[in-house]
Amino acid sequence: MVHRSQITTLTQFIIQRQSEYPHAKGAMTRLLNDIATAAKIVNREINAAGLVDILGTVGKENIQGETQKKLDVFANDMFITALKGGGECCAIASEENEKVISFSNEFSELGKYVVAMDPLDGSSNIEANVSIGTIFSIYRRVTEAGGGRQEDLLQPGIHLAAAGYIIYGSSTMLVYTTGKGVNGFTLDPSVGIFCLSHPDMKFPTHANIYSINEGNYIFFPEGVKKYIKYCQENDSETFRPYTSRYIGSLVADFHRNLIKGGIFLYPGTTKNPDGKLRLLYECNPIAYIAEQAGGKASTGFKRILEIEPKTLHQRAPFFVGPKHMVQKVEAFMMESQGNE
Ligand code: AHG
Ligand code: MN
Ligand code: MN
Repeated sequence: MVHRSQITTLTQFIIQRQSEYPHAKGAMTRLLNDIATAAKIVNREINAAGLVDILGTVGKENIQGETQKKLDVFANDMFITALKGGGECCAIASEENEKVISFSNEFSELGKYVVAMDPLDGSSNIEANVSIGTIFSIYRRVTEAGGGRQEDLLQPGIHLAAAGYIIYGSSTMLVYTTGKGVNGFTLDPSVGIFCLSHPDMKFPTHANIYSINEGNYIFFPEGVKKYIKYCQENDSETFRPYTSRYIGSLVADFHRNLIKGGIFLYPGTTKNPDGKLRLLYECNPIAYIAEQAGGKASTGFKRILEIEPKTLHQRAPFFVGPKHMVQKVEAFMMESQGNE
């Protein structure tokens, strides 16, 4: 048990870490704090969702053709407001906005970072009181002046400066990396402070969960079908048969798999060859965290973080989890390539 005097708050932690980056001027610290502040407000709203009439659709469709929920809109507005007001971010790409939101007022123009985000992930689960999340990616801008532009956001994941997610679950946690390991902070709701609860997170060596929407089975590539069969075989040395767990919220599924040991799969299908998940604000940030936690993230053939993005909302097949599990599904994909 952590003694009260040993509690490290998120703010203390990121300030301590800043000393590891000799040229840092505190901009990333402030940016992460802005995200944490917005997350706390979104968390409050989510917790109140059962009490007030905020559930249900706004009626508009987002650019993916999905009906927006009220909380998607609220979370989007909240993160945009916090990032704009904070002054460290000069542009945002969001699942809920077709185009880049560029901040070009005098104050925010100074921002050196851009953020890609899924403000509310797993939103179709809200009515069922199931865990949902927020996912964010942070890049250094590549353009020189003015408001941030699309090219600042179309960078491969290998150039990420930081990435993280917030999970609004039985407790609310913020998990992030700046490329030196992954750390998790749990919100103490009584004081509204994120406290370090999961230092240096790594996938456990005992891993026996697989997470996939098996309802799409007939549309899966041959390699994925073979991998599912492999997961279901009996072999105590490799902890098989694995346990199947699927929530339908990427953040919640990934978070559970990171803690308990498991692989998450959202493959391309015959109907949607690039799968469903969006590269910039779902696959890349989760892939970066996975790699920093000793894991791996792949399309089945290629490292996620090396994909050169072409458009803001492009999708990618996504396999993420402990290294050996992702390598196994890659082997099945390679083996089956050309047989289809
Ligand atoms: P979002 O709520 O941001 O649109 O994301 C939903 C995503 C992701 O969270 C989850 O992993 C996936 O959709 C589930 O898709 P299926 O319902 O097709 O399994
Ligand atoms: Mn999502
Ligand atoms: Mn979303």
